[in-house]
This record gives sequence, structure tokens and C-alpha cells, in this order.
Amino acid sequence: MATVTNCYSISEGSGKETNHYEISLRGSGIRYKPGDSLGFYPINNIELVKQTIRKIKAKRSDLVNTKETGEVTIEHALLNRFVIHRASKKFLTIVCEKIDKKKVKKELEEILEDKDKTEKYLFTRDCIDILSEYKVNFTPQELIDTLPPISPRLYSISSSPKAHPGEVHLTVAIVKYNNFERERFGLATGDLANRVEINKTKIPVYISQTRDFIIPEDGTKNIIMVGPGTGIAPFRAFIEHRKETHASGKNWLFFGEVHEESTFFYKDEWTEYMKEGNLQKLTTAFSRDQENKIYVQHRLLSNGKEIWKWLKNGAYFYVCGDKQYMAKDVHKALIEIAHKHGKMNQEDAEIYINQTLMKEEHRYLRDVY
Ligand SMILES: Cc1cc2nc3c(=O)[nH]c(=O)nc-3n(C[C@H](O)[C@H](O)[C@H](O)COP(=O)(O)OP(=O)(O)OC[C@H]3O[C@@H](n4cnc5c(N)ncnc54)[C@H](O)[C@@H]3O)c2cc1C
Ligand SMILES: NC(=O)c1ccc[n+]([C@@H]2O[C@H](COP(=O)([O-])OP(=O)(O)OC[C@H]3O[C@@H](n4cnc5c(N)ncnc54)[C@H](OP(=O)(O)O)[C@@H]3O)[C@@H](O)[C@H]2O)c1
Repeated sequence: MATVTNCYSISEGSGKETNHYEISLRGSGIRYKPGDSLGFYPINNIELVKQTIRKIKAKRSDLVNTKETGEVTIEHALLNRFVIHRASKKFLTIVCEKIDKKKVKKELEEILEDKDKTEKYLFTRDCIDILSEYKVNFTPQELIDTLPPISPRLYSISSSPKAHPGEVHLTVAIVKYNNFERERFGLATGDLANRVEINKTKIPVYISQTRDFIIPEDGTKNIIMVGPGTGIAPFRAFIEHRKETHASGKNWLFFGEVHEESTFFYKDEWTEYMKEGNLQKLTTAFSRDQENKIYVQHRLLSNGKEIWKWLKNGAYFYVCGDKQYMAKDVHKALIEIAHKHGKMNQEDAEIYINQTLMKEEHRYLRDVY
């Protein structure tokens, strides 16, 4: 159980909510290294729990039996164990089975028969929304039996234990949206944003160790780090660590966010590191400060010649952040750089990046989610 000792916004005025958290691990014996992630077990929002219990016309003290907890109150089970902020297909299927009216049942069956329609329907709804739409009855036990268990969430640690003994720092984008005129939060980020009281709340955490996403043991190696958005997190840890261990290799950081004014995460720290000579190059891509989007991969391409020089001289290349789009685009940019500046044909450039750099030399490392 760890205590959050500090939390502040690093995206003030941007419309986004990205927070820096400092968490004390003192006395726990927990150790970590730069590149590791912190696992966090969230609980549901208590108001959402109460509303869900009201929706099935149950009492908070009604008892349910779960494999993990034995007999507990429905309030305890919903608060700590089961996902209620988004509805599952299992829940929707049971709702459908319970509907009496043929026409209404058929409508829902049509949604359930089509994977895309089901996903789209469930994307915006929680159990309360569905029970408002389809007036069916659930006993407390029936409800519990349809719900998936809460799973922990991982966060890349943004501190080095050498710079902050006994602490972990996190850089967290709060997931927040509005559907059907109700404000919604992601489970873990909502819990962090809304429940945590500084120096008071205890949160259950563990370390998820990385095997591959590590700083080169040889401190003379140069490193290139690409971390837009919350992808910046492990690189703050890397640079802190390289400073503390007096690593002589050069550090080049690529950072991207929406606006320089409001989302230049940890700007003061980078400025200080540049002055001290602990960060040699900082290249930024602020996507919405001009008409056309500029992303980190555009900056990689425009710096292609020098990147290629660094790579040929043995530099390590790290990427952290969005897996779905950013990491794929950065990957393509790297291949393009090998093709253009390494004077390789397309096939050889792909082999060099995918095989040589990534698999054989382990110099292209990713932590993407
Ligand atoms: C190795 C690793 C490292 C990570 N590091 C970090 C990190 O450093 N910082 C960080 O912030 N995150 C990080 N993450 C992501 C993090 O683990 C969580 O996935 C993220 O915080 C969301 O969790 P949540 O419980 O708040 O949201 P959930 O309750 O899981 O909800 C997220 C879901 O909400 C959905 N959603 C988003 N917007 C809407 C909308 N408008 N309408 C409907 N649905 C919507 C999304 O599709 C998404 O699937 C990391 C993940 C991994 C695997
Ligand atoms: N798997 C996941 O659950 C997952 C992964 C990553 C992010 N997210 C969610 O996204 C939200 C914010 O995440 P974040 O803070 O890490 O920032 P982010 O959304 O990844 O944005 C950071 C920067 O990357 C830019 N960007 C968008 N598409 C890109 C691309 N194809 N290539 C390179 N850069 C690109 C963004 O620009 P524009 O926005 O101006 O286009 C922005 O400037 C959170 O709600 C988070 O949960 C979810």
C-alpha cells in the first residue's frame, strides 16, 4: 500500500488533463529500475457504485457471494472487485434474455448478432445506461455474476530511484468523457484523479519489471528517445538516471504534444538538463500550434541525416507511448531514414530496422500501449 505524496497538473489550460504523481514506497522494500512500470489496482467511484445498486433496487448491505471474497455486501463487491463503468457483452446478453417484449428483444438481438454494432453500443454505455434503456430486473447476485473482474493498470515510471529514493513518479493522462449527459472517467485514471488525497489515501501498487526496455549498461552509449504525450514518462527516468550515474553518452529527446504553451511536460527540467549538459538535444513537435499537424515522426525525418549518423555510431533508439498510431508511424520513419540516409533499398532498410537494430543488436526498444 503506497501513499501519494504529491500531485499536480502538467497540462494547465490545454483542455487535457495530464497529471504528475509522486508516490512514496518508503518502508515497503519495493525496488525498481528506470524502464519499469507501476501496476495499480483501482477501485470504482463510490457514487457510481451507489447509483448502480439503486438502479437494480437493491440495498447497499445486500449480500452476494464471490469466489474471491466469499460472502460480502454488494457495495463492497462492486466497489473493489467488478467492472461497472463500462458494460460487458455478457451483461448485455443477459439483459436481452430477460426482456419480455418481443419487438424490443429482437432489436437488441440484432445488435448482439453483429460484432461491430455490439462494440459500438457498449463503447458508450455502462450498466446504468443499459438498465435505463431496458427495464429488466436483476438480483444482486445475478448482477455480480455478469460482471468482469477489475484488472490492474500499468504506468511507466517517470523517476529514477537514484534521483528520488523511496519514490515513484508517474505521468498520467486522465481518461474523461461525457456520454448521455453524464461525466465518465476511465477506471484507474478516474480513481487517481478523484479519490486520492495527498498524504492520506493508500493505494495498492506493485512493480512490473521490464526485461528489455532498459538503459544501456555502458554509459558511454548515445541514446535517442521518442516520447510524445505520456510517452515522455520513462525518458524522464532515463535522463535522471544517466545524470546520477555520470553517464558520458549523449541524450537526444523527441517530445510531442498539442501546444507548447500548455503541454510542454517538464519543460523546466529539460531546460536545466540542457544547461548542465545532461541533455544534448531536445526536439519538439507541437501538433496544434500551426495549421498543419507536426508530429514526432516529421521531426525524425527532418533530422534523418543526423539520426542515421547516431545509429551508425551505435546509438540506442527508444520509443514510448501510443501503440496504435504513433509507434507505427515512427517505425515507418525509421525505415525511411535507413532507406534515404543509409542508402539502402526498401527491403534492406526494413531488414536493418526490423531485424538488425531491433532483434539482433537490441538497440531499438519500445514500450508502447
Ligand atoms: C506498459 C504500459 C505503460 C503505460 N504507461 C502509461 C503512462 O505512463 N501514462 C498513462 O497515462 N497511461 C499509461 N498506460 C495506459 C494505462 O495503463 C491505462 O490503460 C490508461 O490510464 C487508461 O486506464 P483507465 O482505467 O483510466 O481507463 P479504462 O477504464 O481502462 O478506459 C479506457 C478506455 O476508455 C475508452 N475511451 C476513451 N475515451 C472514450 C470516449 N470518449 N468514449 C468512450 N470510451 C472512451 C478507450 O477506448 C479505452 O479503451 C500504460 C499502459 C501500459 C500497458
Ligand atoms: N492504448 C491506450 O489506451 C492509449 C494509448 C495512448 C494514448 N491513449 C489515450 O490518449 C489520451 C492522451 O494520451 P497521451 O497523453 O499519451 O497523448 P496522445 O494522445 O498520444 O497525444 C500526444 C501527441 O501525439 C500526437 N499524435 C497523434 N497522432 C499521432 C501519430 N500518429 N504520430 C505521432 N504523434 C501523434 C498528438 O497530436 P493530436 O492530438 O493533435 O493529433 C499529440 O500532439 C489518453 O486519454 C490516453 O488514455 C490511450
